[in-house]
This record gives sequence, structure tokens and C-alpha cells, in this order.
Amino acid sequence: MSRFLGLVLFLLNVADLCNGGVTSSFVRKVEKTIDMPLDSDVFEVPPGYNAPQQVHITQGDDVGMGVIVSWVTMEEPGSNTLLYWIANTKLIRKARAKITTYKFYNYTSGYIHHCTINDLEPDTKYYYEVGLGHSPRTFWFVTPPAVGPDVPYTFGLIGDLGQSYDSNVTLTHYEQNPTKGKTVLFVGDLSYADQYPDHDNRRWDTWGRFVERSAAYQPWIWTAGNHEIDFVPEIGETKPFKPYTHRYHTPYRRSNSTAPFWYSIKRASAYIIVLSSYSAYGKYTPQFKWLEKELPKVNRSETPWLIVLMHAPWYNSYNYHYMEGETMRVMYEPWFVQYKVDLVFAGHVHAYERSERVSNIAYNIVNGICSPISDQSAPVYITIGDGGNLEGLATNMTDPQPKYSAFREASFGHATLDIKNRTHAYYAWHRNQDGYAVEADRMWFSNRYWHQGEDSTT
Ligand SMILES: [Fe+2]
Repeated sequence: MSRFLGLVLFLLNVADLCNGGVTSSFVRKVEKTIDMPLDSDVFEVPPGYNAPQQVHITQGDDVGMGVIVSWVTMEEPGSNTLLYWIANTKLIRKARAKITTYKFYNYTSGYIHHCTINDLEPDTKYYYEVGLGHSPRTFWFVTPPAVGPDVPYTFGLIGDLGQSYDSNVTLTHYEQNPTKGKTVLFVGDLSYADQYPDHDNRRWDTWGRFVERSAAYQPWIWTAGNHEIDFVPEIGETKPFKPYTHRYHTPYRRSNSTAPFWYSIKRASAYIIVLSSYSAYGKYTPQFKWLEKELPKVNRSETPWLIVLMHAPWYNSYNYHYMEGETMRVMYEPWFVQYKVDLVFAGHVHAYERSERVSNIAYNIVNGICSPISDQSAPVYITIGDGGNLEGLATNMTDPQPKYSAFREASFGHATLDIKNRTHAYYAWHRNQDGYAVEADRMWFSNRYWHQGEDSTT
């Protein structure tokens, strides 16, 4: 090879590197991901007759001053009364839960209680007690500050969690993360009970007991994934989302949604829109009509951070679930750019990926303009389906790495989004193989409405 040709090839290589993203060189020890057995200590049934179990909370209204508390009793319905009080005060209030049950093939659920408490004080620690009469259990949570543009707040991000040994490591790392997430944004695929014969719903119960140690003390914001569908006509189960909708409630009516799978909440300085990849989203559908009205309502002077959660990612360069989010992207991406969505979090692919700010909205069937382009009005897309479920890691990536992909790594982990004020938020992804404090990907995000500069990794 002539020296000149060698130099040209070298320069081309450098140019290539400059244009592409980063595929992490971290190589995970590849071990099989297996579920923890039914008798694992993390699934332990709390002691006492009819003791409430699977206790979890989520936001119960549009601004965070309401909480939905849910729990399950197994032997009998038991008391549906919930007691709650502000820490260090004596005034005890009461609220009543509604109780539901369901059957799934040969499984009958316990008594599932859902209790909404409203009109709470902002930024206040509350205790609550359930299981009155037999085996009461007490938990606590802290309400968020009142909604406002510069209110700092820290979210955790977890997806596709499941109940394997790796899931347990992910949750432990999240709990021990010094950034201290106050609310989990969960991007779908909870229990993976559907991986068992006849979708053994006992695995929904074990999952509820597994996450209680976090979800009873801080809200988890739910997104529906494909493993929540539980559609099994062979055994007569033809109503999609039956276990999920009985067990996990969302405050969808507060945002004028007509179904629990798509809704919005405000929390501190964030406006969070949850979408359903597995409900109709084409033109004229309920979800489409809702989102069309929803986006113009977002007041960035009140909630500067506009965040969208969904399950199937739109920008994904792994060879798993490739383009499954494409039809929804075609429908909604122009709106995301128009309304300057800051961040989109998805799961589904069992790995981690962060995109550049890109959009791909110019195509009109005949013009051939169908490649993602750099766009500072576009969101960053983050795939965080790396919670650790039994299906294992997605390790196979498209090569070369597409330009829209800024960073990708096939490891289990979780992320935190630490909103500082209306202009800046510090984001970090933590892989499980490191000590809990190690960030494998990090980013300062600048708000698209208030500070539309380039984001920075430093
Ligand atoms: Fe999924």
C-alpha cells in the first residue's frame, strides 16, 4: 500500500470514529439469567394471619399530592381501612380501599386493595398502616414538593425488571445509589409471569413481594409492556392486561385519559407522559386523540421538563425488537419535536442505549428523506430495558453503530435523573457489574424549552 493511500485510509477511519457513537468495550461476564426460586427470602410472605403483602404506591392525582396505596391479603379480604398521619403528629386520618379479585385460568388472586389518599401536604413525610385487625404493617413515604419550575427532584429509571438474581442486584443498586431516587419511572415489563406455564400468576405475587421494599416507600410510575398483556386464548384468557390492571393502578382519569395505559402526571418540575406501545395509537384512536390534546397543555413555565415513557423504543440499534417502535414513531415523532420533548425513556430491549438528539420526520413517501438528522428540538432517546429479567441480555448490536446512537452497552443496570432547576438535569446510568457508585454513562441534559444548547457529557 502506498504511503499516500495509507494516510487517506487512516484519515477516513478517524472521520468514521468522529461521526459514530460509542459502543462500550465493557464485556459482561455472560452467565445465564435465572429467576429466584419461589422460596427465596426476597419473596417471603410477611408473618401474621392475613398480613398485607405486595404493598406498593404510585402517584394518585395530577400534581403529586395524592397517592394510590395498594396491597394484597391472601386469607380473607380483611380490613379495607388505611390509616395515615404526618410524621411526629397525632392526627390520624382514615381512608378506605376498594377490593378486587380476579381469576386467571386455574389461579385465583388474593384480595387486592387499592386506596387513594388525596390532599396531602407537599414535601412531607407520611406514615401509613394497612392490615388493621389482624396483622397491621406500617410504611412511610415523602410527598414531592409542590409543582414548580425550579424544583429539584430525582427520579430513578428501571425497566424490564423481572425477578431473577440480576433483577435483585439492580434493585439493590438502585436502593443504595447515593443519588437517592425519590420516584421510580418504570418503563414496563414487570413480573415476567407470562414466561411460566399458563402464565403462572403466583409469579405476579412473588414480584409484588420482591419490589415492596422500594415500592411501598416511594411511588413507582407504571408503564405497560408486552409482558403485561397476558393474552392466552388457548386457556381462555382473552382479556389483555388482566393481571396488570387488577394489581397496578394509575391515576389516568386525572389527566382525562380513558384507559390506565396512557396518562400524564406532574411531579415537582417534570411533566411525565406515559404512552402505551400495546394499545391502539393510530389516528382517531383514543390514545391518539388524548395525546393530541395533551401536548399543548404542557406549560413549560410550570413544569419545564417534558419526559415521555413508553415500552418499545423508537431509536434502538440492537438486533432485538428492531423497528418494533417504528409505527408509533411515525405517528408521534413530529409532535415530540414540535413540543420539544426533553427525554424519552423506553425499555423492551434488554440493554442500555442513549441516542443523540435526532429526528426523522421529513419523509413523505416520495421524497426519500428518511434518515435521522441532528435536531436540537428533538428528545434524547434512552433505552433502559436492562433491569435483569430471566430472558437475559441483548448482546447483539447492529454494526457499524448508527450515527443516531451516542452510547450503548449490553449490561444490566438502572439510571437516575437528577433535575437541578429549569435548565439543567444530571443523568447517570449505573451498570450492575460496578460498585453501586460507579456511573458507566453520564450526561448533563439542558432543557429544550429554557436552554436549547447542546447537552454535555462533562
Ligand atoms: Fe418488553
